[in-house]
Amino acid sequence: MVQLHEMILRDAHQSMLATRMRTEDMLPIADKLDAVGFFSLEVWGGATFDVSIRYLNQDPWERIRLLKKAMPNTPLQMLERAMNIVAYWNFPDDVVKKFIYLAKKNGVDHFRIFDALNDIRNMEIPMKAARENGGHVQACLSYTISPVHTVEYFIDKFKELEKIGADSLCIKDMAGMISPQRVYDIVKGVKEAGIKLPINLHSHCTSGMTGMAYQRAAEAGIDILDTAMSPISGGTAAPATESVVAAFQNTPWDTKYDLELLIEIRKYFLKIWDKYRHLHRFNALKVDPSVTVHQVPGGMLSNLIFQLEEQGAPGKYREILDETARVREELGYPPLVTPSSQVVGVQAVMNVLHGRYKVITKETKDYCKGMYGKPPATIKPEIMKKVLGPKWKDEVIDCRPSDLIKPMWDAKKRELQEMDGGSLIKKEEDIMTYILFPQVGLKFLKGEAKAEFTSEQLPLPVDHPLTRGMVKQSFPEYKAIWLETVPPEDRAGPAQIPTEFEVEVDGEPYEVKVIPSGGFLVAGAGAASSQAKPKDVEGGVKSNMQGTILSLKVKKGDKVKKGDVIATIEAMKMEQEVKSETEGEVKSIFIKEGDSISCGDLIMQIL
Ligand code: CO
Repeated sequence: MVQLHEMILRDAHQSMLATRMRTEDMLPIADKLDAVGFFSLEVWGGATFDVSIRYLNQDPWERIRLLKKAMPNTPLQMLERAMNIVAYWNFPDDVVKKFIYLAKKNGVDHFRIFDALNDIRNMEIPMKAARENGGHVQACLSYTISPVHTVEYFIDKFKELEKIGADSLCIKDMAGMISPQRVYDIVKGVKEAGIKLPINLHSHCTSGMTGMAYQRAAEAGIDILDTAMSPISGGTAAPATESVVAAFQNTPWDTKYDLELLIEIRKYFLKIWDKYRHLHRFNALKVDPSVTVHQVPGGMLSNLIFQLEEQGAPGKYREILDETARVREELGYPPLVTPSSQVVGVQAVMNVLHGRYKVITKETKDYCKGMYGKPPATIKPEIMKKVLGPKWKDEVIDCRPSDLIKPMWDAKKRELQEMDGGSLIKKEEDIMTYILFPQVGLKFLKGEAKAEFTSEQLPLPVDHPLTRGMVKQSFPEYKAIWLETVPPEDRAGPAQIPTEFEVEVDGEPYEVKVIPSGGFLVAGAGAASSQAKPKDVEGGVKSNMQGTILSLKVKKGDKVKKGDVIATIEAMKMEQEVKSETEGEVKSIFIKEGDSISCGDLIMQIL
């Protein structure tokens, strides 16, 4: 018999609805979900914590409490990012332990724990804490394809995880790229190596091979498969629950779940799918087998290409693809999942735009120092030198990254107590919300967060051309959705955009810190304003990137020479210069400082 782990309340809407499903969308169907008999139901963690407080004005702690009350018979699971918890950076041990304690207390039964780099040192503390609090520990390995990620690699790591106290194991194929033969070999290998723990496969339909992979996994003896109810399945989400149940009927892997009950649940989630139709993206539903050729997840790639196009560098598909693969290899083949996918992806974009390792993000430096953990393969000295400088050896740490972080709980608790006369702390969990997301969490605790709209609340139909622009004006934070054209695994909002860079000017490195201004990727506004001015004029100077006009360096009537800087644009959080390509006089200026501008928009006329 195979059991299913149902993901409709977490991974499914994170993959296809930008994580926007709300507590009130979940509760009415909870009793039916609870009656199916799933191995477990994933309902919490990943990006759901961040999105609840950032976009929905909902308390994630309340959500898990209510869900546990409504589903007492099914183990509820959370996805936990090892020392990152549910955020994107490392926390000290005391915070991780406290978080696990509070999560268990509020209703989490199963803890699926993973580390992006499969550095087991990062997984030990949360695993131990989950066990000590009476939780089930599901230890995960992030799946990727590389010369170091052999079948033996997975077997050896799983053996280690078994030894340090896992209750079950999971292959986390977050990019949906595992092939039928590959999963067969790993599962068979794990079973033959004498590992007794149940083994779970987590995957997404992206490559189009996943149904076949599930069949082969079953043949190799998989114990648990991850699925999602059909209305939010397929594409970048998981295979449909009902389909897998039907496919295994009357086979040795029969789940014995009630298909009629599942079809009832299906009807309910069709309505929820429709409630968020402004978030539907056709591309997220398409099969993208390109990952099988270059091992870069489709979602991540389309996001990078989108960013490059916005920067006025379209048609760079091949280049960005090659560069991402190359940077990944140079950085020791990290699995491409948050946060390593951002490290590799943004560095690849920087390399394509500015030359290889000419602009190095703070994140790349931290990664090479070992601040995320140990990369799967050794990084070559020449790359370390490029990233960290000639004395790179002094910068590298060999301890567990969180060993360098001081305990934080007590200090943060005092800090919050001293604000607003201590009125912000209604319960211990509020301190945790504040520690995990200092700015967004504080706004939420102060009652300043507001719930985002649903499709019904939009003044015009979703497919109306003006909808994007109107949505943007009413809800400035909506721009974060455009960032997620196809949502990569475990991604929520703009937190991953690096803000600190090292820029090389004439061979001298400079540290640059950019303060976010919020004028980033505003598709609606850019399109609307471009209609108000001429498309083309004689002597027109056009923007070759998407961004915000920071400054105009000339005024009407000024004489300019070729190569003079006439304006600066903030794009991708960096300042870029616009230079005149001709000599002449500024006849008219079509934009003003602070305007959002799209690629190809007219800036001024020089004749
Ligand atoms: Co996933």
